[in-house]
Amino acid sequence: MELLFCEVEPLRLDASYAAATLIFSVLLGVWSSQALEMSVGKIPFLEAVNGSTVMLPCTYSSCIGIDKLYFNWQFNNNGTMDMICDSTIPSEGVEPYVTIYKERVEFVGKNHHNNVSILLWNITFEDGGFYTCFGRNPKERSKNHSAIFHLIVVDELRVVDNTLTIIIASAVGGAIAFLMGFMLLKNFTLFVLSKLEEKNKECLVTSSGIDNTENGLSGSKADSKATPKKK
Ligand SMILES: *[C@@H]1O[C@H](CO)[C@@H](O)[C@H](O)[C@H]1NC(C)=O
Ligand SMILES: *[C@@H]1O[C@H](CO)[C@@H](O)[C@H](O)[C@H]1NC(C)=O
Ligand SMILES: *[C@@H]1O[C@H](CO)[C@@H](O)[C@H](O)[C@H]1NC(C)=O
Ligand SMILES: *[C@@H]1O[C@H](CO)[C@@H](O)[C@H](O)[C@H]1NC(C)=O
Ligand SMILES: *[C@@H]1O[C@H](CO)[C@@H](O)[C@H](O)[C@H]1NC(C)=O
Repeated sequence: MELLFCEVEPLRLDASYAAATLIFSVLLGVWSSQALEMSVGKIPFLEAVNGSTVMLPCTYSSCIGIDKLYFNWQFNNNGTMDMICDSTIPSEGVEPYVTIYKERVEFVGKNHHNNVSILLWNITFEDGGFYTCFGRNPKERSKNHSAIFHLIVVDELRVVDNTLTIIIASAVGGAIAFLMGFMLLKNFTLFVLSKLEEKNKECLVTSSGIDNTENGLSGSKADSKATPKKK
């Protein structure tokens, strides 16, 4: 039931329901912050060179606390989920015993500050893909929660080359664009200024002419008389 509300309510943004929705969102916000949450951090992907050792980050949080939290890491191997490791954490702060199913994997989070990160040693191109950090807390009717981390394995040379080329190209391109923009703006400004000056001169000449011929008459009359005189 709660899950249904959670999915439907944010979509109802009619003006008439705005206040109700706001209140609901606040309530739901409080509610959902109490549930278990798995997080792989603000940047859920990593680009790493083959042969290096990477950390797959994951932490959990729960306002109501955990009790026998089950967690695992899985690798999406072309559609089938390969279990990497799993464990049941008795309570917060206790280092759990973690069963590891894949080689080159080490559990480094140690449940310190809810940290369930793992280390993947000497990565190969086959290690690239999507890793799911999964958690289930019996305290909240064993709902499933997960977060996905994307590992991209690259060849060293290509990456360095690309970044350098992009940096240089964008720097040179940016400088040229800036100079061109500056020159155009300068020329345009000068052009406008010279035009304005010309206009001002003309105006001064005509108005002085008007001043001489018509002594302080209305502008429209002065104009109509001034225009026929060609200079
Ligand atoms: C990474 O892969 C490239 C291309 O397959 C290979 O030449 C290189 O030796 C590999 N590097 C490491 C550290 O395994
Ligand atoms: C992945 O799955 C697709 C079809 O689902 C298949 O064609 C492809 O060969 C598979 N690749 C590997 C590496 O198993
Ligand atoms: C990673 O590679 C290094 C050097 O090739 C090796 O000494 C080390 O044992 C490897 N680590 C694992 C966990 O395979
Ligand atoms: C989790 O633990 C690892 C290994 O000790 C550490 O490098 C990482 O920064 C920790 N992550 C968080 C979010 O504390
Ligand atoms: C939760 O995940 C387990 C597998 O770990 C699965 O069997 C179960 O159906 C899932 N429950 C829900 C409600 O998705």
